[in-house]
Amino acid sequence: MTRTIGGCNDNGGIYMFAGKGGVGKTTCAATAALHYASLGKKTLAISTDATPSLAHIFEAAIDDKPARIRDCLYISELGINEIEQMWDRKFGRDVYQVFFSIVDIDYDSFVSFMTSMLPGLSDEFMVDYIRELRISGEYDTIVWDTAPLGQTLALLETPNMLVEHLKLAPRIYSRLRISGKQEPVMNIIKRWQKLSADNLAFLRSEVRFSLVTIPEALAFEQLEGIFGELGRFGFGVERLIINNVVRADGSAFLKARAEQQKRYIDMIYRRYSDIEIIELPMHPCEIKGLDRLDEIEGSLFR
Ligand SMILES: Nc1ncnc2c1ncn2[C@@H]1O[C@H](COP(=O)(O)OP(=O)(O)OP(=O)(O)O)[C@@H](O)[C@H]1O
Ligand SMILES: [Mg+2]
Repeated sequence: MTRTIGGCNDNGGIYMFAGKGGVGKTTCAATAALHYASLGKKTLAISTDATPSLAHIFEAAIDDKPARIRDCLYISELGINEIEQMWDRKFGRDVYQVFFSIVDIDYDSFVSFMTSMLPGLSDEFMVDYIRELRISGEYDTIVWDTAPLGQTLALLETPNMLVEHLKLAPRIYSRLRISGKQEPVMNIIKRWQKLSADNLAFLRSEVRFSLVTIPEALAFEQLEGIFGELGRFGFGVERLIINNVVRADGSAFLKARAEQQKRYIDMIYRRYSDIEIIELPMHPCEIKGLDRLDEIEGSLFR
């Protein structure tokens, strides 16, 4: 039977897990991926973290991208190679031709230079990569594990930023005196503008955001800012996961921790009463490997 999450019919889609560093984003993303795969949906868990840990949590080697974990479940980690290939496919030779008429540079160096230097370009391509995966229809469900918040917000802002940045581009490029090249350059810019606009629309309309937090002072204080930032981009949060919730078992130590956490948990429920809130208990062991992930699936999906 298909279960429901946050009132939405849980029938596939793209789920992004975001939050500050170390709160359990990858653990929740991995668990969610396992859950959707167990419902028979072909699921890809994909990370855009520069120091990814999906493979580590699944205790899998990513020799192939994507790597098969079990029936219906695949994982992948996006790295600089995929980003460079993406550039190559989308813009490579055209822009290179323009560049090459000014600077003598070989093509591989050019692609490395562009993908590392242009503001937010690799972020843009990460969003685009996931959008293309979605369009391809290869997977029913995509679970997107992100880097800690600062980097993720930068990634989310990229399409918007690039649209702004490119407003100036025609003025600059139209003054470049590259004989016979003006029109192709303008076409490239138009394609780029379209890419950014498509990516922004994709993030707004198709990606379902889950925010992961822990019941502690700093994390609670930061929540407001995170909601504000996401709201500024027009992204709504569907679920708030409070991770590492301590269940007191009689020991004075755990009782003290649980009491302290309760203050923040209550504040979260009061402050964010309009979204679905899920508590994920703190486990006695770190969560690694399919058996442990299976164990916590029931807590994340009631
Ligand atoms: N509910 C839990 N109970 C016990 N350990 C947990 C729980 N959730 C996460 N952990 C452990 O906490 C550590 C950090 O979790 P995880 O890697 O999922 O966080 P993250 O937010 O993805 O971190 P990063 O910001 O570095 O990407 C891991 O060792 C994980 O096993
Ligand atoms: Mg992580």
